[in-house]
Amino acid sequence: MSWLSEYYGYINLLAIAGAAATVVITAFVAAIYFKNIKSAKKSGELSADSWDGIKEYKNPLPLGWAVSFLLLGLWAIWYMLAPAGLPFTYPLGAYSQIGEYNEEIAAYNNKFTAQWQNADEATLKEIGKSVFFVQCAPCHGFDKSGISGKAADLTTWGSEAAAIDSVIHGSKGMEYPLGEMAPMLGGLVSSEDAVKLAAAYLVKYIAQTKPVSSADEATKAVEAEAWEVCASCHGIDGAGMDAAAPDLTNYGKSAFVTEVLNRGKDGYIGSMPSFDDGRLTDIQKKAVSTYVLDKQ
Ligand code: HEC
Ligand code: HEC
Repeated sequence: MSWLSEYYGYINLLAIAGAAATVVITAFVAAIYFKNIKSAKKSGELSADSWDGIKEYKNPLPLGWAVSFLLLGLWAIWYMLAPAGLPFTYPLGAYSQIGEYNEEIAAYNNKFTAQWQNADEATLKEIGKSVFFVQCAPCHGFDKSGISGKAADLTTWGSEAAAIDSVIHGSKGMEYPLGEMAPMLGGLVSSEDAVKLAAAYLVKYIAQTKPVSSADEATKAVEAEAWEVCASCHGIDGAGMDAAAPDLTNYGKSAFVTEVLNRGKDGYIGSMPSFDDGRLTDIQKKAVSTYVLDKQ
């Protein structure tokens, strides 16, 4: 027998034994009834009803049966709906496979967070790379280039050139209170030169992703003037005026990528889902954001 229980497990063996017992008992009871049909004499009181001469014995519902039926019905409702912790309930709120799954994932995520909380830049990039290959590469390509324009080209995103491009073509879909940035050229900005000056001001003085040389200092006033049109939405300091528009002090940095992950982007190129649904932990978001901006 031990090989049987090893193969099927005790629970399955019990179920099989139960099924066999049910078959035997059913056959036994059926045999008794068949025997009665053949030999039993008519007895009992007939009811007054008659259907084409066919009459029926009075056969009242046994009280015990009716009471148990009613109680079982009530218990069924109690079993499903009563809050967990009360007696005779199905612990809907206490145990479920989905609940167990969620607990396991949470425990794993906590462990992951504890382990990598202070991960250095190189480790973050490694974690980010594996997240990227699974979550982002299907749209952005393994080389981050956006699969021939199907998604944003992340090899240039965050650069001065990309900012120029965004301003010229517009940007939308991150659902900021100010809505979208419609194509600026020919709209609020009249010349391509003005776009370039504004973008230069952005990367040099607001995001500070580009070093400022002494030659730049000379043109700072002109660039700052070009920025004024942008300031009406992004604020003079570029911080996005209490989140009404994106905080461009983060432009080209991992914090901006994380913001995109949290918001999603239903833009001019296409749709990127929000990753703010528990798919990624904060550390994974930080890691993949670091990897996106790793230009090596
Ligand atoms: C009408 C308000 C408005 C003006 C004016 C404006 N922006 Fe924007 N900008 C936005 C909004 C809103 C977004 C976020 C759009 C989105 O949801 O993708 C944005 C996004 C951006 C981005 C991020 C694009 C990306 O890749 O996601 C950059 C860079 C930017 N703006 C630069 C500028 C510059 C430079 C100017 C001035 C030439 C400017 N903006 C003027 C509202 C504005
Ligand atoms: C379903 C496809 C899809 C997936 C998956 C996806 N993206 Fe995107 N992503 C896009 C598209 C499309 C855009 C361009 C949106 C637009 O039209 O502006 C985009 C834009 C971006 C941008 C630029 C946003 C901006 O401000 O211009 C970044 C950064 C980005 N994705 C990072 C990621 C990262 C990191 C992941 C993985 C965690 C990821 N994406 C997963 C489709 C996707």
